[in-house]
Amino acid sequence: MSFSDKPDRTASKAYKWEKYKGTDILPMWIADTEFRCAEPILEALHKRIDDGLLGYTLPSHDKDAIEAVVAWCEKQYKWKIEPEWIVWTPGVVPAFNVAIQAYCEAGDTVIVQSPNYPPLLAAPSINGLDRACVPTIEVDGRWTLDFDALEKAAADPKATLFILCNPMNPVGSVLRQSELDKVAEICRKHNVMLCSDEIHCDLILDALQHLPASAHKELADHSVTLMAASKTFNVAGLGTSFAIIPNTKVRAAFNKSARGIVPWVTVTGLTATNAAFRHCDDWHQAELAYLQENRDYLVKEINKIPGLKAISPEATFLLWVDASGLSVSDTQKWCEEKGIGPSPGRDFGEKDFFRLNFGCSRDYLIEAVSKLSS
Ligand SMILES: Cc1ncc(COP(=O)(O)O)c(C=O)c1O
Repeated sequence: MSFSDKPDRTASKAYKWEKYKGTDILPMWIADTEFRCAEPILEALHKRIDDGLLGYTLPSHDKDAIEAVVAWCEKQYKWKIEPEWIVWTPGVVPAFNVAIQAYCEAGDTVIVQSPNYPPLLAAPSINGLDRACVPTIEVDGRWTLDFDALEKAAADPKATLFILCNPMNPVGSVLRQSELDKVAEICRKHNVMLCSDEIHCDLILDALQHLPASAHKELADHSVTLMAASKTFNVAGLGTSFAIIPNTKVRAAFNKSARGIVPWVTVTGLTATNAAFRHCDDWHQAELAYLQENRDYLVKEINKIPGLKAISPEATFLLWVDASGLSVSDTQKWCEEKGIGPSPGRDFGEKDFFRLNFGCSRDYLIEAVSKLSS
């Protein structure tokens, strides 16, 4: 497989392509990549299916997958975790909704960064709670959290949970140690629990180290860290992720809220996660190299287009584009009329922006740039 391939995804009914089926619009929305899975993942899945036995498997019995996660955390983030800290969840979205149920009560406020991934913005109201939005601000040419606003939001006694997204979606920033220290200090000072969505943490494109929230000594007993192989290894359709919860009581509360509602993860998801974390390092490194070049190309070209500007994301395969310079009333319509289908900025809380997915063949990016420049 080459990352520059352009596989036909219509047979697999890929949501990304279904949305613009029958049009000339190039889909560049939803956060999965155009990359075919690494061979070791496909081999492991074939073997598991050929076994022909697909009955119940309790995820906590899959010691191989659990050990793969433990080893991955140590290798990637120098974080030594215990196997029992891992709680498998059929997606990060259900996991942060479970966290709200577990750690909040009626009348509470949930803090989230804005702009943000739409299901994360929607989570407080889905659970009948209020939301306090903390703005994303540009400091020295980089997007970051407005820490003064975070402090103010956390000081509200009704604020009981902060759902962080690190690396940030849609802006792609990676929290530095000093920034995570600040998050920890604010959350501890105001007794706010932290749920950290780190689904993009293995897609860091600059020379930066990911810092898992629950590895922070001030946060270990007051946080939940959510991760998955799904984005990095393009297996999101298998609906498998995991929460890492070091504190026994915090973990018990999470499990209690999930009980009877959240299903076990699938055998295919466990199999893919295990293979991804054990046997795909070369593929992963090659993917990061390809994405770095894609990002650099796209950022350079987008910034040449009058009315558009973008800050280079430190992580993810997503580019957050400021289109306010176009002075058009509907940015999404403008893009679609040019023949590009990005994620609409309004869904993330910023109507004058759009988000481009560059996890694809460079040919598509060249095509996109040509359409947007026309
Ligand atoms: C920040 C973030 N969290 C969660 C998800 C989705 O997670 P899942 O498919 O595991 O529910 C996405 C997908 O785009 C995302 O960007």
